[in-house]
Amino acid sequence: MSTPQETPAGKHHAPPAGNGSSGVPLVRLVNAGKRYGAVIALHDINMEVGAGEVTCVLGDNGAGKSTLIKIIGGLHQPSTGTYEVEGTPVHFSSPREALERGIATVYQDLAVVALMPVWRNFFLGNEVRKRGRMAIPAMKKMCKDELLAMGIDLRDVDQPIGTLSGGERQCVAISRAVHFGAKVLILDEPTAALGVKQSGVVLKYIVQARERGLGVIFITHNPHHAYPVGDRFLLLNRGASIGNYEKNQVTRDELTGLMAGGTELEQLSHELESAGGAVADLGRSMEADVEELGISHQPTSTTTTTTESDAR
Ligand SMILES: Nc1ncnc2c1ncn2[C@@H]1O[C@H](COP(=O)(O)OP(=O)(O)O)[C@@H](O)[C@H]1O
Ligand SMILES: [Mg+2]
Repeated sequence: MSTPQETPAGKHHAPPAGNGSSGVPLVRLVNAGKRYGAVIALHDINMEVGAGEVTCVLGDNGAGKSTLIKIIGGLHQPSTGTYEVEGTPVHFSSPREALERGIATVYQDLAVVALMPVWRNFFLGNEVRKRGRMAIPAMKKMCKDELLAMGIDLRDVDQPIGTLSGGERQCVAISRAVHFGAKVLILDEPTAALGVKQSGVVLKYIVQARERGLGVIFITHNPHHAYPVGDRFLLLNRGASIGNYEKNQVTRDELTGLMAGGTELEQLSHELESAGGAVADLGRSMEADVEELGISHQPTSTTTTTTESDAR
């Protein structure tokens, strides 16, 4: 379980992750960055993911969230900085390699075959065979048991997965990753397309995955989804970290303020300024508000004066 740290870590430094059995974080990024040609999608990101913890990555569109999880999930390599898994530097050249180290990604647009039964989707690519034949009853039972262990009681694992709700499908994907031995579970905006009730269901399974000792990386732009389940929070804005907090270092309101301050207000003020005239004055006064917000919510002064707007 998470052990709150008292150390007033600088806002760009990853607070030390809770110890797994081995005493080192499952995942650690140190000053990681990513360029796509001239575009700096991410820079100087520090992050730690501990076993039995939920690390939330928050940020608006274009903040670099997907780029970050593509690095962790093995789809991309960082252009700068280091990436360690359980204390050793890694250089994954594919998601398969990351998976072999127990790092599983559940993408928002789940790769499921809608007309196939739930159990077939569960074992897709990992079918259990006995003497060359698919062990169908065994797979159905394993699937049902695994879903039950996560608290999902499906009457019939033979039903097409397309008949499940979006939230339930996310949950099948989560329990599948758990079943196949994931240590780190990356969820890219699993609640973005869901209503309040379905989001609640997914949040419940995030907590269950944590209870089972996984390190969960939960990507979202919604602080109201992140705060109840998160142990630590990394806030991104235009590829840079604007905060790295443990739960005891930040309140839900501060988190919400940081999100609004770092993104919406700033973008709005830029929009208004580019309009010129009296509207531009309004934009500049909003920008001042943004700065004020930033100061009141950020205790340390290790501000990086970056102009990612150049890179956009
Ligand atoms: N393959 C790519 N080539 C060039 N630029 C990219 C690529 N992927 C992402 N970007 C840029 O990197 C920035 C971060 O994008 P992304 O990681 O998708 O953000 P988020 O997931 O937070 O919306 C954006 O400015 C985006 O346009
Ligand atoms: Mg994204």
